[in-house]
Amino acid sequence: MKKILLYGGATLLLILLGAFLFIQIGGIPSYAVEKPALNLRTDSATLATGKKYVSMLCASCHLNPETRQLTGRFMSDAPKEFGVINTPNITQDKTYGIGDWTPGEILYLLRTGNKRDGQYAPPYMAKLPTMSDADIIAIISFLKSEDPMVTAAAVPDKPVEPSFLTKMLTRVAFKPFKMPAAPINVPDSSDAIALGGYLARNLECFSCHSADFKTNDFLHPEKSEGYFGGGNKPLNHEGLVMPTPNLTPDKATGIGSWSQEKFVKALKTGIVEGQPALRYPMAPYTQLTDREAAAIYQYLMSIPPISNKVERAPAE
Ligand code: HEC
Ligand code: HEC
Repeated sequence: MKKILLYGGATLLLILLGAFLFIQIGGIPSYAVEKPALNLRTDSATLATGKKYVSMLCASCHLNPETRQLTGRFMSDAPKEFGVINTPNITQDKTYGIGDWTPGEILYLLRTGNKRDGQYAPPYMAKLPTMSDADIIAIISFLKSEDPMVTAAAVPDKPVEPSFLTKMLTRVAFKPFKMPAAPINVPDSSDAIALGGYLARNLECFSCHSADFKTNDFLHPEKSEGYFGGGNKPLNHEGLVMPTPNLTPDKATGIGSWSQEKFVKALKTGIVEGQPALRYPMAPYTQLTDREAAAIYQYLMSIPPISNKVERAPAE
């Protein structure tokens, strides 16, 4: 009997060791890639839309404060549990940047999460599976434009060293998205709640303001655990936890008692009741128009309230 237990235990250990080695050595999985055709646009309205989204969605990770270009940086604010993360150069340099990526390859990465060599980009790289076709084309058109933010800069990439947890999550929890089966339209801008919902999901407000990065659902954001109920724990540049506030209309623990005016001002400037109140990683969204910021407020007021009191990070 004892012998059987001993063999059983040893077999289990061997299986666990095998699984560990498979994940540790196998690393991040790769998938087959498609190369969709995509026509870029060069009109100034499209490039302005692209710049606006890139500034709000990509610059937070890919902009290097020294070069003022999208040459990448060390992400001191990435949770340590995910590994050592450096963002790559995504300027148009053909050797070090993405100058030789086709528009379709960039589209495929942004939609599905698969890089052009097929390797999956882990959860710390943004994915845009629900953004409208027009807005995602605007982003790619901007990345291929003459704007100083993206002109070729010969800055080599620093390595990304994903942790065991990241590798495991990309084997069991995070899978690439499929390319959308039907066209995705920009919402009717006269419908404030529809527009606000579109922005709150696609500017990824929900990803920080829900319960946990690990339980976010980018394909169906409303299904993320604690959708907009706050409590997620992004880090600041010093690596300190900055718990996210509850943005649901709950009056006691959310923003149910905030006026639209207070919200718009806070979102666009970081100022609440006359004082700078919102610290990194909550950067002001200066690029939003008042109408867009107000639409986000109206959307948030329309979602189910969640009672969740979040203790804010202490003042330094
Ligand atoms: C939260 C941080 C973060 C955000 C936001 C982000 N990225 Fe990334 N991005 C990364 C990281 C980290 C990698 C490297 C992933 C890897 O190689 O495993 C990456 C990889 C890439 C690559 C592949 C480059 C290469 O040489 O392999 C492209 C292209 C890219 N990002 C474009 C974008 C665009 C466009 C946006 C905005 C829509 C964006 N990223 C937003 C972190 C981010
Ligand atoms: C990278 C993570 C992150 C993203 C993305 C993000 N936020 Fe925040 N947000 C935070 C953190 C952290 C705080 C708290 C900052 C502090 O304590 O100083 C905050 C604070 C706020 C507050 C103040 C709430 C209060 O009760 O004081 C509002 C309003 C807000 N965010 C709205 C938004 C909206 C709208 C978006 C999308 C357009 C967004 N946030 C995107 C992390 C984020």
